[in-house]
Amino acid sequence: MIKKAALNSYEKDVINSENLRKIRSYFAGNKINYFLSTNSTQDTAKGLADTGVKEGTVVLAERQSHGRGRFSRKWSSPEGGLWFSIILYPKISPEKNLQFSLITAISLCETLEKAFNIKPLIKWPNDIIYNKKKLGGILVESALISNRVKWTIIGVGLNVNNILSAGIRKKAVSLKNILRFRINRTNLTAEILKNFYSTYQKFKFKRFSYFKRKFQRYSLLNDRNVKIEEGGRIYSGVVKGIDENGFLWIKLKNRISRKILAGTVLKYE
Ligand code: BTN
Repeated sequence: MIKKAALNSYEKDVINSENLRKIRSYFAGNKINYFLSTNSTQDTAKGLADTGVKEGTVVLAERQSHGRGRFSRKWSSPEGGLWFSIILYPKISPEKNLQFSLITAISLCETLEKAFNIKPLIKWPNDIIYNKKKLGGILVESALISNRVKWTIIGVGLNVNNILSAGIRKKAVSLKNILRFRINRTNLTAEILKNFYSTYQKFKFKRFSYFKRKFQRYSLLNDRNVKIEEGGRIYSGVVKGIDENGFLWIKLKNRISRKILAGTVLKYE
């Protein structure tokens, strides 16, 4: 558990060079490239990945001018939030981007639960939800060379101490809103990265079914009625859970089961 006293200090919210050293020491010296502002940490990370920087290199920015989410949706990224991307060179098939999204979501929920004793939920495949509002999101992008993954970039956006604009507040929430105190983002970043790396190590050597049970613990959608859009079509039904590949199964109104590979959940109740 991250102690409240340690998190409550305004000064400690600054991710300065001293604090960066502290974060780095948590996971074998992986480099953190820190920016006051960048277009998108995803794009900065892609540039670095193309030069072959070390696996686990992180790009972290206080603000993003063009932060983006899935399907190129705009991702608001003012100061006070946590916006970062992790560079990986996984030796796996490109179809596993979905699983990356799920294991990152699991590790984020585990970290937040352990650190703050709150239980956020995962809205398959990439949303972190608290009380029906969006607390964070994950964006996974890969480059391929002849059907093999050259690099994978995991982008994480988490509303922490940032102020949510009136429009966004209807649908989103920050950790500060939930906990009613200012969060020490240095400690939080260190905990998130530490847990992510240990989850990633397991992911490399275990079958995805190992993570299925963990996912269930945080799954928002199980047994709920949903409306999902995939490939321009809308499907309505009841969510039955994920399978051993991370795909979502729903039972449609006509009782036929359908596997969703990469949809967007438009509605759930
Ligand atoms: C989503 O919910 O659609 C995913 C949002 C991902 C946002 C993060 S913030 C850090 C990284 N840089 C970006 O431009 N996007 C991701």
